[in-house]
Amino acid sequence: MESIKTIVLKVDPRQPELGKIRVAAEVLKKGGLVAFPTETVYGLGANALDEKAVLKIFKAKNRPPDNPIIVHVANEDDIYVLAEHVPEIAEKLIGEFWPGPLTLLFVRSEAVPNAVTAGLATVAIRMPSHAVAHTLISEAGIPVAAPSANLAGRPSPTSAKHVLDDLSGRIEVLIDGGEIGYGVESTVLDLTTDPPTVLRPGPTTVEELRKVVGEVEVHPIAKAEVPIEVAIARSPGMKYRHYAPAAKVVVVEGPLEGIIRKVQELVDAQRKPGKKVGVMAMEETAPKYRADVVKVVGGHRDPRAVAKNLFKVFRELDAEGVNFVVAEGLEPTGIGLAVMNRLRKAAGYNIVYAE
Ligand code: TXA
Ligand code: MG
Repeated sequence: MESIKTIVLKVDPRQPELGKIRVAAEVLKKGGLVAFPTETVYGLGANALDEKAVLKIFKAKNRPPDNPIIVHVANEDDIYVLAEHVPEIAEKLIGEFWPGPLTLLFVRSEAVPNAVTAGLATVAIRMPSHAVAHTLISEAGIPVAAPSANLAGRPSPTSAKHVLDDLSGRIEVLIDGGEIGYGVESTVLDLTTDPPTVLRPGPTTVEELRKVVGEVEVHPIAKAEVPIEVAIARSPGMKYRHYAPAAKVVVVEGPLEGIIRKVQELVDAQRKPGKKVGVMAMEETAPKYRADVVKVVGGHRDPRAVAKNLFKVFRELDAEGVNFVVAEGLEPTGIGLAVMNRLRKAAGYNIVYAE
């Protein structure tokens, strides 16, 4: 790819300087690419109504063309332009969870270019709550198509540095708004099924959704502990080996005492000269392990911290040349389900059950 100069605009994440945001908004309006922080991960944005601009996203990321992109809006009315039909349940969910980390799937309208939906009959829409994302989209005055701002196959970026590591020279502008709040991507909820179906677990939890709308299905792939056939991967992103560090990963699940024993056993079995073995541990357990690298990613009592640090730790393990990683599993409830979904996938469903 031909290299362009990536301009970095550093802003105050809570009260972003309007002058800088307007520079970025102009780039979007002219069909360019802008990476920006959201409350979940950094996104790589383009004008969602401009097919040529959207195709640049696929090129910059090396994204497979059959993987559709979420459209980000700052104004609720935009959904009536982008969606053919807005069910009643959507209004309830939007009232409760927008702006925020919940993406809703609707039957698409004619206004949405094919590149955005990868030819599917549906369109995914969300309204981010991050002040930078919100201000950028409303200043541009257009809906913004934005996948996570990483190269395809790399973990989603949770800092401006991660974005530059992957996309420097490939995009016009990066808005640096510091570190991210949640650290895992938004919950994707399909509203074209009855009851609605969670296709990707995220920061808006299944438990919270059920409190508001009653019955909610969780797609088998979202809670999968084994690889699932691509044929039933309703969300094309499901089938790609996402979120993966270069190292081989094993996840250990089960009761805590059992996990601690099993993790050390697996580490001991792998350690040999020339091989670097790491553990992704929690603050409660990290002191117990002997390995080449032990990373604290959060706490069993603090799954939000795990969500926030997970992708950063993946990148650190790669940078340190770790070849084999043993990761402790969390309880797959609340935000823990989002964490386990990413972790199991990164491990290629290589899961060991401890007793
Ligand atoms: O938190 C997030 O959602 C971040 C920030 C930037 O908003 N974005 C993000 O985008 O994670 P991306 O492209 O990395 O993941 C979007 C997921 C993919 O798994 C994709 O297949 C799915 O959403 N998706 C998008 N449009 C869809 C559609 N029309 N039908 C089914 N799945 C869709
Ligand atoms: Mg992504």
